Amino acid sequence: MKKWNTSKIRAAKGSYKLACLTAYDYAFARLADSAGAHLILVGDSLGMTTLGYSTTVPVTMDDMLHHTAAVVRGTREALVIADMPFLSYQVSIEEALRNAGRFLQEAGADGVKIEGGAIRRGCVEALTNNGIPVLGHIGLLPQSIHNLGGYKVQGKTQETANALLEDARGLAAAGAFAIVLECVPPDIAALVTAAVPVPVIGIGSGSACDGQVLVMNDLLGLSESPPAKFVKQYACLAPQIKAAFASFIADVQAGEFPASEHFYAPAQPKSNS
Ligand code: KIV
Repeated sequence: MKKWNTSKIRAAKGSYKLACLTAYDYAFARLADSAGAHLILVGDSLGMTTLGYSTTVPVTMDDMLHHTAAVVRGTREALVIADMPFLSYQVSIEEALRNAGRFLQEAGADGVKIEGGAIRRGCVEALTNNGIPVLGHIGLLPQSIHNLGGYKVQGKTQETANALLEDARGLAAAGAFAIVLECVPPDIAALVTAAVPVPVIGIGSGSACDGQVLVMNDLLGLSESPPAKFVKQYACLAPQIKAAFASFIADVQAGEFPASEHFYAPAQPKSNS
């Protein structure tokens, strides 16, 4: 049995802070898991971090299933949640159930994440009532980027802050085991966190949330562009990786790699006698 399941994640509310990371493949999932991450999210941010798209909108079910299965193979203790991609849960509850079920049956995920608040109540109820744990996601919804007109802080007016509170309450009542709250002012995030009985996991939403999630590539400094304001870079790996690649290329060209210590023993010619 894994150390982290949805009951333990729920029970963290008010007792300890949850630390969640995204991962998109086996190697990084192993590292995040062995470092002690409580929840690993196979985010559809993989559209940008791994597949080179400019938004999450082009990501497909096949992309998500492929990467989720790899993350599951690399994870022993953390809860693995798969992001449901754009249009895999919005068209009908039947389609949402079928697609969500594939993440559990085919990829081995422990649950799914869907974007949207009160409007997703019916979907969250149908999934949870049928044995599929759901992580909600409110605030900035990257799959709605074409409606939002940019990656902007959400909930800045009284009206939108009230809507966020209703969204969070609606998702919790529908059975979501936790809720991601993205890019919301810290005072509003504190109100949302206090308003629901399930953990609120913040990203760009201040420190009052019950936990935090960061995109792995941002935390590790794997991109060459400057990070968003809310990101803390715990490493700056892009220049180091680039320097390692450049050293390899220079060594090969100079005939310095491989050196004798990288050779296998020469084959012993068989004598004919
Ligand atoms: O896709 C993703 O990585 C996410 C996180 C930013 C929460 O949804």
